[in-house]
Amino acid sequence: MVAPTPYIGLSDSHKSTMIAQTLGGNVLAKLPVVRKLGALRRSLARYRNRRETIALVPTMGALHAGHLALVRLAKRRAKRVVVSIFVNPAQFAPHEDFSTYPRTFAADLAALTALKVDLVWVPSAAEMYPEGFATKVIAGGPASTGLEDAFRPHFFGGVATVVAKLFSQVAPDIAIFGQKDYQQLKVITAMARDLDMPVKVIGAPTMREKDGLAMSSRNAYLSAAERAAAPTLHRILKESAAQIKAGKPIAATLTASRAAIERAGFEIDYLEARHAETLALVASVKDGPLRLLVAAKIGKTRLIDNIAV
Ligand code: PAF
Repeated sequence: MVAPTPYIGLSDSHKSTMIAQTLGGNVLAKLPVVRKLGALRRSLARYRNRRETIALVPTMGALHAGHLALVRLAKRRAKRVVVSIFVNPAQFAPHEDFSTYPRTFAADLAALTALKVDLVWVPSAAEMYPEGFATKVIAGGPASTGLEDAFRPHFFGGVATVVAKLFSQVAPDIAIFGQKDYQQLKVITAMARDLDMPVKVIGAPTMREKDGLAMSSRNAYLSAAERAAAPTLHRILKESAAQIKAGKPIAATLTASRAAIERAGFEIDYLEARHAETLALVASVKDGPLRLLVAAKIGKTRLIDNIAV
């Protein structure tokens, strides 16, 4: 087990810490963990003065192999990699899981140290949303297509606002998001385009467990029985995509697929075929490229997934 230990690092005025990860007593590496905006800007200025490209991987922590794949992609695409860890209260409704969202900071730092990330940006809620904070990004287009937005109406406002802030704080050349949160990826891509943000938003393929379940920090909530049923979502998505591709009508395919998902114990929020770019409704494959998107609850856990047709 790799345990992070505080390390004497940057000066107090930088208000950041260097974390030395130790494995069996050997120091592996020092990972700058920055908690204040001023310190972040000073650190990033060093990279920029050397004309080094910067990739940002925004996360809410509880890192799993899917996040680490985003970091590896970031490392291939830019000289410097910044990972943000911030469980963003603004994207959770009061009845949602903000307080119980998994927080595994020590393990996250160990994994990021092993990947030789350049800097971890860990603002507090007060640093991100200081007293008097009053501005919100209102996302439209893909954010109002009746998918996640219909079930989590607060969600994309919170995501767009925090990601806009992260883009402004880090000013990355590229930013990497997982395709598992497909609508989120489209919302952020549209926001960056519409607000002329000088960042290239890159979507990375969903990482899956061996049985097909999309990796997600929320999988940690699943009981053993729920975990056993959970891969059904991906299996049905795959089968539905194959059937639609083979010419079976979309509406009939999705009706049968919804029934199969419910039989596996899920309560469905939506299972839809949409235009892969705009997320607009589609009637046939001719309206494509298509993407199937699903959100469904098993027990208390809400899972989402999607697949290309
Ligand atoms: O996908 C996530 O983890 C979050 O929604 C994000 C993009 C880090 C914003 O808080």
